[in-house]
Amino acid sequence: MIQGNDTPRDSFSTKFGVIAAAAGSAIGLGNIWRFPYVLGENGGGAFLLIYLGFIAAIGIPVMMSEFTIGRNAQLNPVGAFRKIAPGRKWHLIGSLGVVTAFIILAFYTVVAGWTLEYLVQSVKWLILPERSGVAGLEGEASRLFFQEHYTDFTGGIWRPVLWFLIMLFFTGYIVASGVKKGIEKYTKILMPVLLLLLIVLVIRSLSLEGAKEGLVFLFKPDFSQIKDAPVQVILEALGQAFFSLSIGMGTLITYGSYIRKKENLASTAVSVAAADTFIAVIAGLAIFPAVFAFGINPGQGPELVYITLPVIFQNMPGGLIWALMFFLLLCFAAITSTISVLEVIVAYLSEQLKMTRRRAVILATVAVAVLGLICTISSDVFAVFNASPDILLPFGGFFIVVFIGWFFSKDTLKKELSSDGAKRIRYYPVFVFLVKFVAPLAIVFLFAIGVYNKVITVFPGIG
Ligand code: PHE
Repeated sequence: MIQGNDTPRDSFSTKFGVIAAAAGSAIGLGNIWRFPYVLGENGGGAFLLIYLGFIAAIGIPVMMSEFTIGRNAQLNPVGAFRKIAPGRKWHLIGSLGVVTAFIILAFYTVVAGWTLEYLVQSVKWLILPERSGVAGLEGEASRLFFQEHYTDFTGGIWRPVLWFLIMLFFTGYIVASGVKKGIEKYTKILMPVLLLLLIVLVIRSLSLEGAKEGLVFLFKPDFSQIKDAPVQVILEALGQAFFSLSIGMGTLITYGSYIRKKENLASTAVSVAAADTFIAVIAGLAIFPAVFAFGINPGQGPELVYITLPVIFQNMPGGLIWALMFFLLLCFAAITSTISVLEVIVAYLSEQLKMTRRRAVILATVAVAVLGLICTISSDVFAVFNASPDILLPFGGFFIVVFIGWFFSKDTLKKELSSDGAKRIRYYPVFVFLVKFVAPLAIVFLFAIGVYNKVITVFPGIG
């Protein structure tokens, strides 16, 4: 055994706690910030349909595979592969996950920091409407105001850096003090509140004049919208599915290692995926009707939510008080995700390199601070970091399903999925078919045509 201590391993205490923690990891900026703008850039309804297909056929199987590996090994991603497949190279997939965790934390914590800026600004807009210039703004004028605010803020250095560091500090603090008592407790309350607030926003957004166009954009698959770059759209849908579910880099191997043996891994995975997808669609419903009603460009990129939502808030009775609530909750949703990413690095450092938890947290956050600073200073680095999970996560996910499908003992797999025979696993043949064939082949195929596409754009003569 690699784990050399006698203290029992920390675990989530209830089934609901497991789902809340895993859903807390999955639901975050990926749903509310990234999903709407990626969908907006990639043609709307057709993207949504492809995305849903990936969640069901690839996302859920990868998630179940990660839970199985983690719970079986009771270790971080690197330790888990080392323990289950000693003397083989599989642990490199765990190491890749740790590297990916650094990249994601760096840009994600920067965007999470923006929620703090918007929180503080909302207070200012609320109590000093005249001085801050929001008083009496309507329609087009309010869109311009928030657009300018976004550009000024993200174009600067000190404020984004400050909020990023504060966010990183909180993340480190929570991870250092253990997840159970802090996050498990708060996510259970905050996630439902976030959902309620989103629903209020959906109602407001839908009641705007011109909202219908947004609904059509979101729900009516129009494949002619993606005909210019179908491969790129499909790859982005795949990447977004992995990113949103927090899969492909060992986050859920790590969380899986804290799940008790009697918990049902399949139903947990399905609940988490369903909750995550539901929130993404609800976020789309809050945003796109307003985007069309106010004449905002749906394909404008990362600023979409940070401009659209303040505009809706401003045009609502009660106004920016909604903004305050919303950014507060978004900040919590982001933090339940950042801690899950940091936990991967910390579990690795403390179990494999035998560091104390505290020391592991300090080392990891200092390293992330450096990377994040680079992201705030250079928008190019930010863009590269933001785009790289689209490749890295499906790449890691490929090896995770191949490992479970082709190399993992089928007896152990059945034992894990059935909680030692206590639960029926009628879905088993379907699951094995998905992890052995469907998921790996789909990923390889998509990567292959992605590479081919790149090659023919660089060397047009070949095609
Ligand atoms: N799933 C998170 C979100 O949607 C982001 C995340 C990615 C978290 C990968 C952990 C691992 O916001």
